[in-house]
Amino acid sequence: MNKKVYIETYGCQMNVADSEIVVSVLSKQGYEHTDDINEAVLILINTCSIREKAVHKVFSVLGRLREEKQKRDLLIGVTGCLAQQEQAALFRRAPHIDFVLGTMALNQLPRLVEEAKAGKKRVMDTGEYPDNHLFPPEVARRRSTAKALVTIIEGCNHACTYCIVPTTRGVERNRPWQDIVSEVQGVVESGYREVELLGQNVNSFNGGCSFAELLERVSEVEGLEWLRFTTSHPMNFTKELAKVLVTNTKVAPFLHLPVQSGSNAVLRRMLREYTVEQYLESLGYLGEGRAKLGLSTDFIVGFPGETDEDFEATMELLETVKFDSSFSFIYSPRPGTAALRLKDDIPASVKSGRLQRLQKRQLELAKESNLRFVGRTVQARIEGHSAARDGFWMGRTGDWKNVHIQAGDGRVLPFAELVDVTITMASPHFLMAEIA
Ligand code: SAH
Ligand code: SF4
Ligand code: F3S
Repeated sequence: MNKKVYIETYGCQMNVADSEIVVSVLSKQGYEHTDDINEAVLILINTCSIREKAVHKVFSVLGRLREEKQKRDLLIGVTGCLAQQEQAALFRRAPHIDFVLGTMALNQLPRLVEEAKAGKKRVMDTGEYPDNHLFPPEVARRRSTAKALVTIIEGCNHACTYCIVPTTRGVERNRPWQDIVSEVQGVVESGYREVELLGQNVNSFNGGCSFAELLERVSEVEGLEWLRFTTSHPMNFTKELAKVLVTNTKVAPFLHLPVQSGSNAVLRRMLREYTVEQYLESLGYLGEGRAKLGLSTDFIVGFPGETDEDFEATMELLETVKFDSSFSFIYSPRPGTAALRLKDDIPASVKSGRLQRLQKRQLELAKESNLRFVGRTVQARIEGHSAARDGFWMGRTGDWKNVHIQAGDGRVLPFAELVDVTITMASPHFLMAEIA
């Protein structure tokens, strides 16, 4: 019997990793993964609810699936953060959903599928299973990616007032470090040379050793070339971690350290637990190693009560730090979060004006940062053909720069391997290069 499952994934890398776990769990039940939604008998939507826009996307996909379901026999399941947040309310908004699976109950999926298949309506499990984070060791990796994702910690113990994640992912649960090391060994044996350790807050890792120690232990896995991690919280960014990041050559020279705002008043209302000065002090731990490191961050603009002066402080921070890249968002009110109680009286046009200004300046800074690379020879891992440019290949440097590589004469570059390239040109978003 054809038992094909299609899974659509929204949100962060944690969700991408969860989708891989879900495919593994289902394969034990005889389901085979497909990239073609039309041949699937089971469709899963792995959702995100970090901002309102992400939620809209999910409902528009669910709307399209309603028509599909009228045409053929189909099971539709919703997983991920929106499933955890909305629970049974999802059935009311989209009655054609067969089951809802929470983020802390991934191993319950086979039971839910069986019950839904047997005709039970509105099947749901959004409970919390204490062993949910002890993932199956044989996770089905996506063969199309050059790096393997390995989740090390789930949940978040912080309480940023704007954020839905503590609600959707629960409190922190650590995997034992030995499990992580052996999963990485397995992944490297299966051919991956690059691994990214994942968590909502990786540097509060406490699975038998500190996060810095975990990086050292994982980096010893034979055959591993680059080790990455995301995301770090500035409060848990220790001197010990900074030292490993700048001295361990297996740890890729890149740090994503979300700051959110350059104003202490805003940071306080966000409950970020640090001041701008403390954030800068943490970056100082990197010492001279900082110069060789790619640095990125996240910003929220238009947080309730953000004054012109607060926003100017964010723009100043941009100049002080000169991030290589940043992600920036307009504050989006989330259900049940503490920030809902703050008065949000900034006009929408002011919020979008601020976002545009920040993004424009960031692009200029990104271009300046990229221009430093022109003429240099660096290593890049090949991620595949360029979709936009014929004869070009996509690559990624250790410090997370996108490189468009001209191979010339129809030459095929080896997928997922490191190649030496010479940078010829720089734009805000990527570097152009030739084979060295
Ligand atoms: N755990 C990570 C963040 C995960 S969410 C950390 O603490 O850094 C990724 C980013 O989404 C956040 O850094 C923040 O910039 C943004 N974000 C989260 N909630 C948001 C909201 N309600 N509105 C706008 N942006 C939000
Ligand atoms: Fe959300 Fe803050 Fe936790 Fe990050 S640290 S996931 S922003 S609550
Ligand atoms: Fe979205 Fe959940 Fe990740 S809300 S950003 S998928 S942790």
